[in-house]
Amino acid sequence: MKHQFVLILDFGGQYNQVIARRVRELGVYCEVYSYTKALDIISEKKPDGIIFTGGPNSVYCEDAPKIDASIFEMNIPILGICYGAQMMVHMLGGQVKAADIREYGKTNTKFNSDSLLFEGLSSESITWMSHTDYIVDVPDGFEIIASSKGAPVAAVENRNKNLFAVQFHPEVSHTIYGKEIIKNFLVSACHCNCDWTMKSYLDTAITEIRDRVKDGKVLLALSGGVDSSVLAALLSKAIGNQLTAVFVDHGFMRKNEGDEIEESFKDWDMNFVRVDSSERFLDRLSGIIDPEQKRKIIGEEFIRVFEEEAQKIGKVDFLAQGTIYPDIIESGLGDASVIKSHHNVGGLPDCVDFKEIVEPLRMLFKDEVRQLGAELGLADVLVHRQPFPGPGLAIRIIGDITRDKLDILRDADYIFREEIANAGLDRSINQYFAVLTSVRSVGVMGDFRTYDYTLALRGVTTTDFMTADFARIPYELLEKISVRIVNEVNHINRVVYDITTKPPATIEWE
Ligand code: XMP
Repeated sequence: MKHQFVLILDFGGQYNQVIARRVRELGVYCEVYSYTKALDIISEKKPDGIIFTGGPNSVYCEDAPKIDASIFEMNIPILGICYGAQMMVHMLGGQVKAADIREYGKTNTKFNSDSLLFEGLSSESITWMSHTDYIVDVPDGFEIIASSKGAPVAAVENRNKNLFAVQFHPEVSHTIYGKEIIKNFLVSACHCNCDWTMKSYLDTAITEIRDRVKDGKVLLALSGGVDSSVLAALLSKAIGNQLTAVFVDHGFMRKNEGDEIEESFKDWDMNFVRVDSSERFLDRLSGIIDPEQKRKIIGEEFIRVFEEEAQKIGKVDFLAQGTIYPDIIESGLGDASVIKSHHNVGGLPDCVDFKEIVEPLRMLFKDEVRQLGAELGLADVLVHRQPFPGPGLAIRIIGDITRDKLDILRDADYIFREEIANAGLDRSINQYFAVLTSVRSVGVMGDFRTYDYTLALRGVTTTDFMTADFARIPYELLEKISVRIVNEVNHINRVVYDITTKPPATIEWE
């Protein structure tokens, strides 16, 4: 069954991915492209609707991004947001002006409930505004359908031509009816039936993988992170034992984690290879204290182990990669430098003989990857695994790494995670872990003086991991965790909680 497709044209706005997420949540498949590619993508994909994103420019600046005007004559419904709205109005003969003050934040806005976008909504609500320029004059054929104090023309429509424009940001959760407004556009203007679900994505993905791979062999480096685990499960469903998943166990996983990963894939149809390489990683890291050097050595060694295993398998046809959508979305302003090359394993292995790469998750956002994992029936521990750095505990032991220190950290970290889960905080704190500082301090236990390690606990709340706040874990819970760790784990006599935000600190300590 063909699903409908909405094209999001990006003009450099900061919320381009949020728009895409909202549209998909509403059950309509969409993709984001730079506005410069509009005509090619339209003729290739024949979208049922188009959304213009916001952007940092002013429409009357000479080098402001402009869409090809023919787009307004194609009979495809268009919704312009913020800059996208101003550009539409400006190009069709309306007028946009610079205001003296910027309208920013939650704004009381009046809606015309007879309009297509605001149908069924109350006549007044809060929207999220972020603009300096504003629309002062609307083009012929357009009607004003919303207004606010700073934006007398907060939304317009031309029902004959199916063109709509909103000055505010419906994609941002602060716009109370944002989702309904986008839905009205998708359903009433674009006639979408909102039937894109993870189940339908899964069926399509399986068919596509089978068509592409045929009877070829596929190799995957499985880290046990969400992306590579979901990828392994998807490939297993699609091509069974034509897949070989190599799990390089570098020995820096958390307590029981290597076994959990192995156990989770026990009943899946694939060749699962776990390579216990802890000895060789520890050897290479002996005496290394610099965090970046640790990362480099681990990355290199990972590739070496993976290559050795791949060579045992012989020729493979495809290498599978867990690339996801945010890794490949290009900026609307065409700045190629923001396209990340994303190789979880730290670079493509040179010596593995393969013809092509398969990346079946490349159009999914992170939370969609988790949904797909759940749809596939992948174990909860993998689907909801918190982010864990590739180098693992090696960068959570400050300074040099020994087997003893790893054991101490594993036990302490396990207690911390167990207590956070018992308190029901494991989904609200986005990342939480223990760090073995190399600081030793004096303590007293019974009648004895101790001189042992200080353990640091870190818990953060964040949406993007670029900035983060420290999690407000209740004192009582911190106390319980501290008592348990000091009593149950030898060589830790002091526990501290990290109360710095990012920035200025980072989430990890190394
Ligand atoms: P920082 O410490 O930079 O961490 O605030 C941000 C996020 O990135 C993770 N992280 C890493 N992930 N390899 C990874 O795969 C690494 O070397 C690495 N360093 C940090 C960190 O856990 C957090 O989620």
